[in-house]
Amino acid sequence: TTEKWIRVADYADITEDDTLGVDVDELPICLYKLNGAIYATANKCTHGDADLSDGLIQDGCEIECPLHEGRFDIRSGKAVSAPCTEHLKSYPTRMEDGVIYIQVGST
Ligand code: FES
Repeated sequence: TTEKWIRVADYADITEDDTLGVDVDELPICLYKLNGAIYATANKCTHGDADLSDGLIQDGCEIECPLHEGRFDIRSGKAVSAPCTEHLKSYPTRMEDGVIYIQVGST
């Protein structure tokens, strides 16, 4: 397969209940830390030109877009609130020695 794991950040770089935007191989990714667990999705809102890393985490597991307040489930990338209808791409994450990796290239 063409799947590969890419180092994206240190675990300590992300605050609990917060986001971190990173560019991975020119791919804008948003990382989240929820109850100590790390999640990763595309950083661009599927509705318009906004970075979800500038948004707010709401109801424990949803990211609210800073532009029109649409929401996605952080754990799945699923669009859960209007005007967002197209799901976000989400990426598997892995932790090793305090370093976060995400899996890219899977289809
Ligand atoms: Fe994100 Fe419109 S750009 S909800």
